[in-house]
Amino acid sequence: MAKVITVINQKGGVGKSTTCESIGAFFRDQGKKVLFIDLDPQCNLSYLLGAQSDETIWEYFCAKKNNAEVSLKNFIQTTDRGDVIGSSQFLAHADSSLLEMGREYYLKEGIEELEGTYDYIVIDTPPSLGIVSINALTATNGIVIPTQADILSLQGIGQLIQTVTSVRKYSNPGLQIYGLLLVRYNARTNISKGVADYLATVANDMGTTLFDTKIRECTAIKEAQINKNSIYDYDKKSNAAKDYNSFVRELEARLG
Ligand SMILES: Nc1ncnc2c1ncn2[C@@H]1O[C@H](COP(=O)(O)OP(=O)(O)O)[C@@H](O)[C@H]1O
Ligand SMILES: [Mg+2]
Repeated sequence: MAKVITVINQKGGVGKSTTCESIGAFFRDQGKKVLFIDLDPQCNLSYLLGAQSDETIWEYFCAKKNNAEVSLKNFIQTTDRGDVIGSSQFLAHADSSLLEMGREYYLKEGIEELEGTYDYIVIDTPPSLGIVSINALTATNGIVIPTQADILSLQGIGQLIQTVTSVRKYSNPGLQIYGLLLVRYNARTNISKGVADYLATVANDMGTTLFDTKIRECTAIKEAQINKNSIYDYDKKSNAAKDYNSFVRELEARLG
């Protein structure tokens, strides 16, 4: 059975897409079968992984909406960086378009049909808690919440947890929170340290923990992305490669 991992935080620019990219690349390097699914209308993950087809997750959702016989596997593209279901800017209209009964289950139903094909499915999410994120939360085994060490990044976490609570109640009782991941960390600032301590408390209140590994601020990440490379292939000795490596090992232990 594939492990489905969703990276979510409705705040933008907190390292969701970068974290998805690195989780998937880590497992691929281990020889595992990985599927990336991009649910963000900004299509950053699709871009990083070189997904180009016009048959995106949006077309899949529209087909489900129209009750068409449709299979998620027809939307998978194979790139040098792995198997990807790309996103589309039109996904921004999902909340006003997808109004039918059962809409929160579209992705879950599609993923269930892929049974046996993948070891890991990694889902990137948009900076909002609408129907697209609900689809991810319904379809996933658990979530990773990346956050930066600033107070505004922490602000949204309470709201995210409320959404997780509703999803557990209505559409995915087994939804797990694997943990909070501190990204773009700079240990030299007192603010970072203070927020890290505070985050550990927040995580505890949520019934989860902060990952021991913190992802340090590291320019190699941006360089790797410019070169359309994974951080491991670009510079496996960089701080970011070491940090993501140790984070995914921690995550692996929490996947159960
Ligand atoms: N550890 C890091 N060090 C330096 N830059 C980073 C790091 N993680 C992410 N970034 C950069 O921060 C920006 C936002 O990251 P991204 O993954 O796109 O966030 P999100 O998907 O949450 O919007 C990107 O430009 C990315 O290259
Ligand atoms: Mg993103």
